This record gives sequence, structure tokens and C-alpha cells, in this order.
Amino acid sequence: TKMADPTKERTFIAVKPDGVQRGLIGDIMKRFEQRGYKLVASKLCMPGKAHLEKHYSDLSSKPFFAGLVTYMNSGPIFAMVWEGKQVVKMGRVLLGATNPLESNPGTIRGDFCIDVGRNVCHGSDAVESAQKEINLWFKPEELLTYEANAKPWIYE
Ligand code: TYD
Repeated sequence: TKMADPTKERTFIAVKPDGVQRGLIGDIMKRFEQRGYKLVASKLCMPGKAHLEKHYSDLSSKPFFAGLVTYMNSGPIFAMVWEGKQVVKMGRVLLGATNPLESNPGTIRGDFCIDVGRNVCHGSDAVESAQKEINLWFKPEELLTYEANAKPWIYE
């Protein structure tokens, strides 16, 4: 059997409503772009309560679940799919820790957040959840396949 190309790993990243309202879309995209990752899909959307409950279904028993869904449904979200080697893990590194007291300066959350419930961005936490989230947020035809010319200058 053929090995999967490690440079084709994908993750789901979203700028949450507070990040959109605060004008952080460009800054957040820039960090993934300059690291060397490849954008394969993006859209500004307000998918509605049912979709957001599905997205966070693993957290449905948490006390903060209702507030989380209300916050996520409070305005447009900028949804993205990024591709590249170890992009799921690296996406979480670029985002920073969930708890703002633990998110290091230099990370997105470490640079922009105070409260956990206003933490401006989402990133898939594992390859399997990334696949599920990409399928939930994007139609197959929204994921583009194209030649990234910088590739030989990023990967050895
Ligand atoms: P979680 O999946 O634990 O974190 P992450 O987004 O880093 O994967 O939680 C999902 C979101 O729920 C988190 O980004 C913000 C919100 N949340 C709260 O509002 N309060 C909390 O105590 C926690 C743990 C999360």
C-alpha cells in the first residue's frame, strides 16, 4: 500500500465571531501562510445554532456549552482549511493554549485573548477530528487542489 503524503495533512481553523469583529482575520491567516502552510479552502459564514452544536457536540455536557454556542452564533465566522506537514499539531501551537493564562505571547491566543470564552480562534485537536470538522464545514468542491510553487523551498 502507498504511504499517504505527509505534506497533505489538513486541519480546520476558524476565526471566531470576536476575532472577525476585532479585525484579526488577516493576522491569523498570515501566521499560517508565513509558516509555510497552504490554504485549500476559506469562507465567511454564519452556519447557525444546530451546526455549531454539532461542531462542539463533544462538549455538550459541559456547563459552558450553551454560552459557547451563543457566542459562536453571535456573528460571522471565518472558516479555513490549511494543509501541510503536521499542520494539525502545528495549528494548535500557533493558536496557543485554551486557557489564556497558559497561552504564550507569540501565539494567537497569547497575543489577543484574556477570557477563555472569547479566545478568537478554533483549531482541530487531532487528525481524526480535523477530518470530521472539514466535512462538517466544507463541501468537497470547496476544497481546492492546486500546485503550491513555494513547496520545494519549504520541504526538504
Ligand atoms: P476545548 O475544546 O476544550 O478547547 P480548544 O478550543 O482549545 O480546543 O473548548 C472549546 C471551546 O470552549 C474553547 O475554545 C473555549 C470554550 N471554553 C469555555 O468557554 N470555557 C471553558 O472552561 C473551556 C475549557 C472552554
